[in-house]
Amino acid sequence: MDGCLLESMGDLKRTHTCGELNEKDVGSTVVLMGWVQTTRDHGGLIFIDLRDREGITQVVFNPEIHEESHKKAHLLRSEYVVAVKGKVRKRPEGMANPNIVTGEIEVVADDLRILNSAKTPPFVIEDHAQISENIRFRYRYLDLRRPSMIHNLTIRHLAAKCVRDFLSEQGFIEVETPFLTKSTPEGARDYLVPSRLNPGKFYALPQSPQLFKQILMVAGLDRYYQIVKCFRDEDLRADRQPEFTQIDMEMSFIKEEDLFKVVEGLMVTLLKRLLGVEINTPFKRLTYQESMDRFGTDKPDLRFHMELKDVSPLFRESAFKVFEHAIKKGGVVKAINVKGGAGTSRREIDELTQSAGQYGAQGLAWIRVLDGRFQSPIAKFLSDSEVIGLKGMLNIEEGDLILLVADQPNVVHQALGQLRLIMGRRLNMIKEDTFDFVWITNFPLLEYDELEGRYVAVHHPFTAPMEEDLEILKTQPEKVRARSYDLVLNGVEIGGGSIRNYRNDVQSMMFDALNIKQDEARDRFGFLLEALEFGAPPHGGIAFGFDRLLAVILKEESIREVMAFPKTQKAVCLLTHAPSVADKRQLDELSLKIKTIKSESEKG
Ligand code: AMO
Ligand code: AMP
Repeated sequence: MDGCLLESMGDLKRTHTCGELNEKDVGSTVVLMGWVQTTRDHGGLIFIDLRDREGITQVVFNPEIHEESHKKAHLLRSEYVVAVKGKVRKRPEGMANPNIVTGEIEVVADDLRILNSAKTPPFVIEDHAQISENIRFRYRYLDLRRPSMIHNLTIRHLAAKCVRDFLSEQGFIEVETPFLTKSTPEGARDYLVPSRLNPGKFYALPQSPQLFKQILMVAGLDRYYQIVKCFRDEDLRADRQPEFTQIDMEMSFIKEEDLFKVVEGLMVTLLKRLLGVEINTPFKRLTYQESMDRFGTDKPDLRFHMELKDVSPLFRESAFKVFEHAIKKGGVVKAINVKGGAGTSRREIDELTQSAGQYGAQGLAWIRVLDGRFQSPIAKFLSDSEVIGLKGMLNIEEGDLILLVADQPNVVHQALGQLRLIMGRRLNMIKEDTFDFVWITNFPLLEYDELEGRYVAVHHPFTAPMEEDLEILKTQPEKVRARSYDLVLNGVEIGGGSIRNYRNDVQSMMFDALNIKQDEARDRFGFLLEALEFGAPPHGGIAFGFDRLLAVILKEESIREVMAFPKTQKAVCLLTHAPSVADKRQLDELSLKIKTIKSESEKG
């Protein structure tokens, strides 16, 4: 469009949004401003749908009412920005649109100003368009114009406000902690920032404010929270971003129960305010071990049953050697009963076998219960007592599908845990409208890391061991349980935290168990260790993945749908093209030199 046709808002002042006019406003003169969603020329009359953040209003241009506006309306295209003055009238009989708030009325224009033109957008601004993520991220400002994205960002805003209100009523103070800081031990790689004033030295962007919030407890702040960005250089997935937001909190003079109570109150309030949903407290609890045994994972989706059952006792001596051998080698045989799953095809079972294989399972045994018989490649190996045993332990009925895996417990758990989810989804067993919270407690404190050849902290090194397990910290470190907890919602780990080591001697024992030398500990976390010597109160806390929590609440598959400006799997921002190369002057100032990096094609 010819730029000289563009006008200014002039004396027009917006009176309403595009989402609020209704029958009560009929007869009043209004001014709306927004984007042209669609135009329809009905020979004589021109209709446009005018859109802003709040909704859509139909505007009519009638040459008999205002000839000049009608003429200008011919120029309108999608996403032009306009101001319209006009009178609200009831739509003629049969023309109402019950699907939108403003569907009963339309605005008859007597003034139109074209404030800005727009290139043809690469996709239509509407919710159900199939658009690739690459295009959406590149034109994020257009993508965010879609109602579902505006809705998600609005809910995000309301959630943050609700968290602030609730925690502040509970006596929490929001304190900001530095981004330019030292490495924190959350287990991912750090993002480093070179220091110009200290050549050769780097800040690390925080993976979490863990150490600062503990320092704030030593400082006597008592109850801290912060809605804060965290930075982790890790491999990205649907539920992971390089920078994400935590609701981070820490409390003094508390035990687990005190923290659970505050958090449950927060979740109840959030779901009530955001969705009007009532949830019951106290939340369920499972120990880590129970969760692994029964659901094969430490983030169980409890919206449906189908538990893993240990059927090893039936197969200690068996004609089916695969099972017998697995048990002899210290493994287990576990099974799930997929109720009503006998219709699963051979091809689908092959796919399930492949899924199980991804977790290291050597195979997948299956039984379809049809016509009163076990249809299964292993049926011929099963003795009468094994069949009776299975029927009893798994409550087998006509139409069921039984899936069995034999291996070391961790392989069996991961494989069957995954198959449980796949089949639960496939057979629509998951109650989509429920919010099922569960605390997972009693995690192990340490796990052996084969690569590093030493024990590492399952949560982080500041987590307190259970007092009664302290005496075996030196002798049987893998048996020590931690005072840590995760909160799981509908099968997603939305938060994790722990009661901390507030005594210097216990913290030192922990570093010993982790084989972190005294001087290394001093070098990395010296400031915290020193602080612990100046009267640290007993304390503990938790952090929630705010993005993950929102994704579950909004039923989105990926946290990218609840973030304004997410990055791709390769941690690239397609809008700004970050990360980008630094010029020579910047590098010189930072005393940095870049090794020549071969491009993908040069690598061959
Ligand atoms: P943790 O490392 O378990 O604990 O992190 C807390 C929660 O943050 C979310 N989360 C993420 N969300 C999106 N992208 C990521 N890359 C990502 N990584 C983690 C998860 C997780 O449950 N300082 C401790 C908390 C404490 O001990 O108080 C911590 O950060 O939902
Ligand atoms: P085979 O005797 O090897 O043909 O195996 C018979 C059935 O047992 C096949 O359906 C295999 O997938 C299954 N199977 C093999 N190994 C395992 C295992 N470790 N756990 C469960 N099933 C297995």
